[in-house]
Amino acid sequence: MTKPVINSPKVGIIMGSSSDLNVMQQAADILKEFEVDCEVSVVSAHRTPEAMIDYASSARGRGLTVIIAGAGGAAHLPGMVASVTTLPVIGVPIKSSNSIDGWDSVLSILQMPAGIPVATVALDGAKNAGILAAEIIGAFDSEVADKLSTYKQTLKEKVQRMNDEL
Ligand code: RP5
Repeated sequence: MTKPVINSPKVGIIMGSSSDLNVMQQAADILKEFEVDCEVSVVSAHRTPEAMIDYASSARGRGLTVIIAGAGGAAHLPGMVASVTTLPVIGVPIKSSNSIDGWDSVLSILQMPAGIPVATVALDGAKNAGILAAEIIGAFDSEVADKLSTYKQTLKEKVQRMNDEL
């Protein structure tokens, strides 16, 4: 039986194209702040379906804890990945060159039929995807939870500074 690798939780960040990287980089950056390891890859649901299935079906065995999947347009990558793994999948809708207005990506990722959930963040919301991934890991890793607490404290202080400067 494969045991969850909770000593070195790792997040898999995937995207349908390297053109998504400018958005998806934000997930990698915030995870770095929390000292959570991640791996970043381009995996396309419609251009490399076999690679997508391999990636998702081997993810848990390779030590991944959470998958963040970003895609634009008819964004089927997060849902397809979620269908072949029991790991939590966070979907990032991307307003890409082939998006109509972004709603296409949002609804493609958000409106998953019952049974295969994808936790969907805002359009281009890769930073929140990174934070949510860290929170999932923080549920069983107190070091990551502590870093999240510190981060949230900085947000409070930011608002306090805004008030001080009014
Ligand atoms: C999607 O199509 C990708 O996720 C990307 O957002 C969009 C455009 O891809 P490229 O034409 O830039 O490779 O599959």
